[in-house]
Amino acid sequence: MPLERLDPGAELAAFARDVAAGMRASPKRLPCCYFYDAAGSELFEEICALPEYYLTRAEREILTDRAATLAAAFRGPVTLMELGSGSAAKTRILIEAFLRRGPLQYVPVDISRSALDGCAAALRRDYADLDIRALAGRYEDGLRHLRTAAGGQKVVIWLGSSVGNLERAEAAQFLHRVRDAVAPRGRLLIGIDLRKSRAILERAYDDAQGVTARFNRNILVRINRELGGHFDPQTFAHRAAYDEDGGRIEMYLVSTRPQQVRIDHLGLDVQFSAGESIHTEDSYKYSPAEIRLLAKRAGFRLEQTWLDNARRFSLNVLAP
Ligand code: TRP
Repeated sequence: MPLERLDPGAELAAFARDVAAGMRASPKRLPCCYFYDAAGSELFEEICALPEYYLTRAEREILTDRAATLAAAFRGPVTLMELGSGSAAKTRILIEAFLRRGPLQYVPVDISRSALDGCAAALRRDYADLDIRALAGRYEDGLRHLRTAAGGQKVVIWLGSSVGNLERAEAAQFLHRVRDAVAPRGRLLIGIDLRKSRAILERAYDDAQGVTARFNRNILVRINRELGGHFDPQTFAHRAAYDEDGGRIEMYLVSTRPQQVRIDHLGLDVQFSAGESIHTEDSYKYSPAEIRLLAKRAGFRLEQTWLDNARRFSLNVLAP
């Protein structure tokens, strides 16, 4: 049984509030944490296997090369908390490395109950020695749990460049809270995607098979199901554009025609002109200098940066 920090009623109320605010805003927007319902989490796993989405493979390569070195740096029992664990496919590399050197408690934190249950069940089956405490909730819930947790040296892992989904200043603020949760002896292991050419980035976020488009549109499907929305997802095109100065991929859903969409539970009729977009997510990319600055602003010392062979992605060890 997962430790339950999600109150379904409160989650639905927050979703309703955020959708209403985002649909009234100009330009329209939707917060990206709502991508990850059961269907969204599954679509994201599909994204991770796409030929264009190099991030997952590059990060797995680094983890495979460095897991033993990383694990060897810790003494005694370790509590490994993963923010946004999903299927925890890559995390197995780390779990195996840590188990080889001593007792390990693994605390996956995920907003998707279905992803969390599946992940915990599979890990229990495969690793008899692993102590698992799954936590259904938001990142904040995880950090609160960690601050008060007894036990071993604390290691927080945040993979997949999810930090890129926060604005740069927000990212530094959030990492500061992670720092306070792992201090004084713990570490943060964080995967951060690097700045690179527009062509590679835009393909990674707009694949030929249209999986990313389905993932993006899934948020409209979710509004229909949970809030009584009447979106026709096929009338919204997926768009991913790289802003080179800002160093970020911007994701949009673009209405292909003028339309009015009713959302019953919100008592709202939303007007769209042809070509009008909903901003659904940003994915910030970092230069090595920007990674150093992020760590510094968060009150961390950047202890280690590892890159994959093609130098597309970074895995960083941060110390309080
Ligand atoms: N953390 C992932 C990233 O920024 C999330 C992601 C990948 C994503 N592809 C997406 C979010 C497409 C929205 C749309 O790489």
